[in-house]
Amino acid sequence: MIHSKFIPLLAVIFLLFSACAEPGSNSGNNTEPAKNDSVKTEQPVAEGKNLFTDKCASCHGGDGTAGILGAANLQQTTMDAAALQQIITNGKGNMPSFKTTFSEEEIKKLADYVQTLNPNPKTK
Ligand code: HEC
Repeated sequence: MIHSKFIPLLAVIFLLFSACAEPGSNSGNNTEPAKNDSVKTEQPVAEGKNLFTDKCASCHGGDGTAGILGAANLQQTTMDAAALQQIITNGKGNMPSFKTTFSEEEIKKLADYVQTLNPNPKTK
């Protein structure tokens, strides 16, 4: 009986609490799994493509033909893998060196990928 005068106060506190708890209970939903692992691919050419899209497409375009800043058309390059690796490692003209950006392994994958861009490989 003595406590009855607290009931309106308790009701207000309860309303405030539930108003705050509502969005909190939504943001506390941590059941979404991390999906990055399943996206990663093991294929070297696909990996080279990812690296290319990330670091090379800004000048060469996704298909190698964009020519931004005078970037060479990579569908027309006749370079072999060794020459491609040399260019990627050391750069040329407006193209920066990627020596410190990529591992040797990654540069090889990029060179392999660049060779797949050419629809008519080995013209000579
Ligand atoms: C800042 C712009 C830029 C970026 C980024 C860039 N390139 Fe280049 N790339 C150029 C330019 C400009 C040339 C032409 C250089 C010249 O001949 O003077 C070139 C030339 C090349 C060549 C020589 C092709 C030929 O037949 O002469 C290859 C191969 C190449 N780039 C591959 C790549 C790869 C692979 C990447 C990513 C790791 C990359 N480039 C990133 C601008 C860029």
